[in-house]
Amino acid sequence: MRVLVVGGSGLLGSVAAAALDERHQVIKASRSSKIRVDLAKPESIENLFRDIGVVDAVISCMGSAPFKPLAELTSQDFRAGFEDKVLGQINLVQVGIQYLAEGGSFTLTTGVLAREPILAGAAASLANGALESFVMAAAPELPNGIRINAVSPSVLAEARGYHASFPGFPQIAGSEVGRAYVKSVEGIQTGQVYALG
Ligand SMILES: NC(=O)c1ccc[n+]([C@@H]2O[C@H](COP(=O)([O-])OP(=O)(O)OC[C@H]3O[C@@H](n4cnc5c(N)ncnc54)[C@H](OP(=O)(O)O)[C@@H]3O)[C@@H](O)[C@H]2O)c1
Repeated sequence: MRVLVVGGSGLLGSVAAAALDERHQVIKASRSSKIRVDLAKPESIENLFRDIGVVDAVISCMGSAPFKPLAELTSQDFRAGFEDKVLGQINLVQVGIQYLAEGGSFTLTTGVLAREPILAGAAASLANGALESFVMAAAPELPNGIRINAVSPSVLAEARGYHASFPGFPQIAGSEVGRAYVKSVEGIQTGQVYALG
């Protein structure tokens, strides 16, 4: 398969690419990599697909939201997280539909904050929960046998800088998260959220 990994230079993107690149042709893209795309800009996504052509799977491993105590979060903060993580990945799906092979798949990345809170995480929880609901709702409407799932891990063991913010949470090995991307790309399921930890 030809597999596009957006955010392929990041931690989750590297994990996804490493799990797939022995058996598939993996194309990594991001705002600053050699193959460029900015998910905030639909025209940039269109240009990327025009350059690389039809793919069998699209994986998105990007998205951030402001971390602040609830009392300090402004509506602009919530909007920023929603625009970056949620609308960015939805832009990728909406443009990518016409460049996915029949029976192809989208795999989005959310995270444990959709189902468990941490201090200062409300904007990120909002974004993750919104994306997971989008996956549930989009799956039955996608054409041409196209599937969509989300990988929703707890903090990664390799993401040491985040461990103090996730006290007592399971720390998931990158290799385990990689298997969830494989399950989504190579399997038959759709509308699923693969909650890890
Ligand atoms: N790290 C964890 O433990 C963990 C756990 C659960 C969930 N997650 C989620 O997984 C996702 C990725 O996290 P990460 O830790 O892998 O982050 P990361 O290491 O910072 O990587 C983010 C990647 O996304 C790219 N990117 C950012 N904005 C983009 C845009 N607008 N268009 C295209 N590419 C863009 C970045 O490259 P450029 O800067 O070059 O664009 C980079 O390749 C996030 O949604 C995060 O919440 C992470």
